[in-house]
Amino acid sequence: MSTLADTVVAWQAQHGRNHLPWQQTRDPYRVWLSEIMLQQTQVSTVLDYYARFLVRFPDVAALAAASQDEVLALWSGLGYYSRARNLHRCAQVVVQQHGGQFPPTAAQLAQLPGIGRSTAGAIASFCFAERVPILDANVRRVLTRVLAFGADLAVAANERQLWDAAQALLPEHNLAVTMPGYTQGLMDLGATVCSVRKPSCLLCPLSGQCVALAQGEPEHYPVKTRKLQRQAQSWWLLWLQDAQGRVYLQRRPATGIWAGLYCLPVLDSAQALAQHPALADASAVEHLPAFLHVLTHRDLHLHPVRAHIKVPDVACDEGGGWFAPAQWPDLGLPAPIRKLLLAG
Ligand code: ADE
Repeated sequence: MSTLADTVVAWQAQHGRNHLPWQQTRDPYRVWLSEIMLQQTQVSTVLDYYARFLVRFPDVAALAAASQDEVLALWSGLGYYSRARNLHRCAQVVVQQHGGQFPPTAAQLAQLPGIGRSTAGAIASFCFAERVPILDANVRRVLTRVLAFGADLAVAANERQLWDAAQALLPEHNLAVTMPGYTQGLMDLGATVCSVRKPSCLLCPLSGQCVALAQGEPEHYPVKTRKLQRQAQSWWLLWLQDAQGRVYLQRRPATGIWAGLYCLPVLDSAQALAQHPALADASAVEHLPAFLHVLTHRDLHLHPVRAHIKVPDVACDEGGGWFAPAQWPDLGLPAPIRKLLLAG
């Protein structure tokens, strides 16, 4: 009888995704870069960013030697910028502490900045055929359904138990071929067949052994009780423009939303914005339409207010600078701010 692993490996070879650029290599640098970009971002979006990153940073040494600003600028639009800051730090650690070579085991990879247990497992299984599991959101869905694993994954002990189950299901033979195929196969099943709602069980190679399907309710898995607390927040954005069209931008603090990126000055209220000293000698002040920007844990309501300033350096002593439109592409700007400025 064939095992679950055999079935997944055979299905992946025939029906999985086999032509993505990061699948044509076992270079840990390239695989790592793709896995970080693919956390929270779709394949179709990642393709262009991945290609551009590799042109500018063909190896880990080139990435380590870059400035953080340049890395953030190339990342601009992918979102979740802590990934870009960790990516840069990780490259520096690999160069400084590992002689420019990624370490070859999942346990060592998981010690590096920005690499969690699942990403470490993906890199180690793809590049080194190590017999280690992955458990990203897609794979968690596939495995909890196949096993009808109904314990609440908000409880750490249950999550550990699922990791143990994932370990026990790994291929046992011919690991050089089966580990990369199995890891990719679970990812592909989760992304294309075993969807959150209305999974395509008729197309699934595991339907015969899926306990959740036999029970009739695959969508009931996985079980996780703790809900993300969404919060709403309003920001007033002070858009100061001088006679040459330059805009005043400040770097965001090192932690929090858009950490380290350049942004228009942010104020908590319309009153705070109205009292800003830079507006004392502004001519026309325009209240532009507010818009919503959705982050993982927050709905940000953004209220841009534009003012034209004659003497730019007055009252702008908050660690920012005036940037001409030609300089914007090279700055790490949050995507909605870039869009706003370009539309203006
Ligand atoms: N998502 C995360 N890793 C992936 C990979 N290697 N291929 C496709 N999608 C992914």
